[in-house]
Order: sequence, then structure tokens, then C-alpha cells
Amino acid sequence: MSELLDFHAHILPHMDHGSRHTETATAQLSLMAKAGVGTVCATSHFYPQDILPEVFLEERQKSLQLLLRAHGKANRPEILLGAEVLICAGLENMEGLRELCVEGTDVLLLEMPFTKDDWDHSLYHTVHEILMQGIRPVLAHVDRYPPHAIEQMFDMGLYGQVNCDALSKLFKPKHLLRWMEEGKIVALGSDLHGAEEKAYTPFTKVLRTMPEQSERIMRTAHTLLKQAKRY
Ligand SMILES: [Fe+2]
Repeated sequence: MSELLDFHAHILPHMDHGSRHTETATAQLSLMAKAGVGTVCATSHFYPQDILPEVFLEERQKSLQLLLRAHGKANRPEILLGAEVLICAGLENMEGLRELCVEGTDVLLLEMPFTKDDWDHSLYHTVHEILMQGIRPVLAHVDRYPPHAIEQMFDMGLYGQVNCDALSKLFKPKHLLRWMEEGKIVALGSDLHGAEEKAYTPFTKVLRTMPEQSERIMRTAHTLLKQAKRY
């Protein structure tokens, strides 16, 4: 089995509502360690209208230091710093966009808007321009959007990340299974908020109930991060 990678989780204290306290964050890391997770991407929300990348990066670093002081090295996965970046028109021009990619890579976890009206021409233009910069966007929780809208993004060359709660139910959405089969979904995420044990159950359940697909996606995610290495 490849090393388990949780590609999407809110585990950095004080960065967003996913982890309000250091104690929550340490409990989250313990949950992951118990599940056998080897690496987690810490993808705190980044809302471009609210904060500058340089300020976000500084706060993220402080948050990480706080967490590492509280938890130490044992009984936790490796932490790769990242962000869940909400797209907006013009995002391609924002200075520091590349710095929000998963640490050391060109892979960017991109969150699409939830309102239909925001999927307009300027959004597609922005996605195109981001791709032109050599950034590899992975769409966060593709399970939450209308399948045809996500298909369009796949056609443009984007990848997808799926939240495990969408796959942990008895009846799994067919289009998600198809996208996994086709290699369009390249990463699994818990999108962990809070530290309740049940919050991590979907992630472990998918690993247990879909072992072959999980293994394939883990391999794909590791390969993507390796290929997208910047340093
Ligand atoms: Fe998230």
C-alpha cells in the first residue's frame, strides 16, 4: 500500500473554522496518525478578497510553529503546507498565487464558487490563465458541484479531489466512480474540520471499503506531487 495522503484538511490552528484551537489541531493530527495517514496537506481556506497572500503565508507559518510546539514530531503525519484557494475573476494576476500551491510544488487546491451565476466567462478565463502559468490546479471537493460543470473543468486540463464523505455512503454517485476510473480524480481528502472522531470516519471507511481505488488514487496523488516539484 502506498503511503496514505490526506490531500485536503483544515488542521492549522487559528487559520480558519476547521481548527479554532491548538488543542483541536493536535487532536486532529492524532486522529490522522491513528488512521495511518503518512502525509497531510494543510489546506486552510484562502479567500482572496479578505487577505493578501503574504499575510496569509506569515500567519500560516506562525500557526504551524504553534502546532509543532504543541504536538512534536511523534504520532502525526508529515505536514505539507498548502491552501484551499477560492477562485475569483482576476486571481491569475494576484501576486503570490504560486506560493499558495502545495509546498514545493505547482499544485494548487482550487475551490470553485458554489453559486451558478459565478461560473461565467471571466471565471473560465481565469482558470485558463492559471493553467498558462504552469500551475496545476486540483479542484477541491468535486463531489459538491454539478457534474457537467466539473466535466468542463476536466476538459480544460484540471484535476479533481473528492471528499471521502461523498464516497462513504452505500450508494456512491456513479459519476464520481467514473471519474476515479478515468483518473480525473487524483486525490482523496477528509476536508477535516474539528477533531471529533466521527469526522474522520469517512476517510478511513473509503480506504477500507474501496481499497483498490484508494490505492490507485494514492499512487496518482504522490506521482502528481512528485512531478510538480519546484524545489
Ligand atoms: Fe475545505
